Amino acid sequence: MQELHDKRIVLGLSGGIACYKSAELVRRLIEQGATVDVVMTDAATHFITAVTMQALSGRPVFNDAWDPRIPNNMAHIDLSRGADVILIAPASADFMAKLAQGRADDLLSTLCLARACPLLVAPAMNREMWSAAPTQRNVAQLKHDGVSVLGPGSGQQACGETGDGRMLEALQILAELVAFFQPKLLQNKRVLITAGPTVEPIDPVRVITNRSSGKTGYALARAAFEAGAEVTLISGPTALPEPYGVPCIQVQTAQQMHEAVLSQIAGQDIFISVAAVADWRVTNVASDKIKKDPLAASSHTSNLEFSLNPDILATVAALPNAPWCVGFAAETERLSEFAQAKRLRKGIPMLIGNLAQHVMDAEHTTVSIFDEQGEHPLPTSAKQDVARMLIAAIAARLPQKT
Ligand code: CTP
Repeated sequence: MQELHDKRIVLGLSGGIACYKSAELVRRLIEQGATVDVVMTDAATHFITAVTMQALSGRPVFNDAWDPRIPNNMAHIDLSRGADVILIAPASADFMAKLAQGRADDLLSTLCLARACPLLVAPAMNREMWSAAPTQRNVAQLKHDGVSVLGPGSGQQACGETGDGRMLEALQILAELVAFFQPKLLQNKRVLITAGPTVEPIDPVRVITNRSSGKTGYALARAAFEAGAEVTLISGPTALPEPYGVPCIQVQTAQQMHEAVLSQIAGQDIFISVAAVADWRVTNVASDKIKKDPLAASSHTSNLEFSLNPDILATVAALPNAPWCVGFAAETERLSEFAQAKRLRKGIPMLIGNLAQHVMDAEHTTVSIFDEQGEHPLPTSAKQDVARMLIAAIAARLPQKT
């Protein structure tokens, strides 16, 4: 799935050591199907060559407003007219000052002023330059003018200092750009999502768990972030990287997940319970490894005692001022019947159901939405696309606040 298929991006580089990250960024944008025109300031060409950017983008790189390759000498108009977006990465303190003032004394600043498309900037500078009053004034002015400011990140800087001002990493900028093109269906909404399995200890080396890759829950967290929501993810152990822009609370057991959910639930508009929560936990967890030798002191496999875990979703749905709740159910048979019964039993307006044998760990999935009106099957699609369809379905059903 190419996330930027058919998108035309003007990538502007101003002068900064973070230009090295822009080389990787071009690759990522192209991998995702974008056409990328690179425009560089003179300062940028001191950090990375036009040849490098041309080789990576597969297109001519522009730097000079008087470039004879543009037949009508209007590079600033030609380049910006076909673009879906102009992205300045890195955006230096000086270049942001220029943008904030509307100056146009080189090709990149001129085409930003002459643009008819949205402008995104990814600042990159030393922490003192970032926090300096003039820079902060310029950032506020740019936001006021409708420019999207991506980051900056925080951490170790090229100068050896540590603080705010690092340019976001290529994959983080890519995530921001993909999100930029998604409809903002959940703007100003707060969404809490559980994902992955829980693991319940039996002894120091053994656990009881459910099969769950966490992919669907993580894809939903990403889709909700792209839709403009403030998202929190509570996850059992998975092999997945935490989604960009989504704070993530890692837990192990169902009880820990229950506590984490209740600590985060106040003020949430939507709760999406994707986690495959273990229904049971062992109450007599052995402090030493259980031996299979029936004569060993710690052998008590047949004496495991279980107790029912809290039903997190049903608990949340029953809260006063409960958020709008969405459940998931993986069944192996009689999907419609079991899914609707489960939805009613949990007291929730919407449940997503699928046949477990069709999805475990696959990149694609086939699901149906179950609500008061009945079953609504979705087309088999990549998990990220299904997640976006589900977010749209949730947004369409969400009651308007009075
Ligand atoms: N769920 C939960 N807490 C639990 C068990 C399930 O929050 N202790 C949530 C899941 O995240 C999911 C929904 O309830 O959204 C349905 O989970 P499932 O395991 O299919 O339902 P159960 O109620 O456990 O029913 P059964 O195992 O009998 O099918």
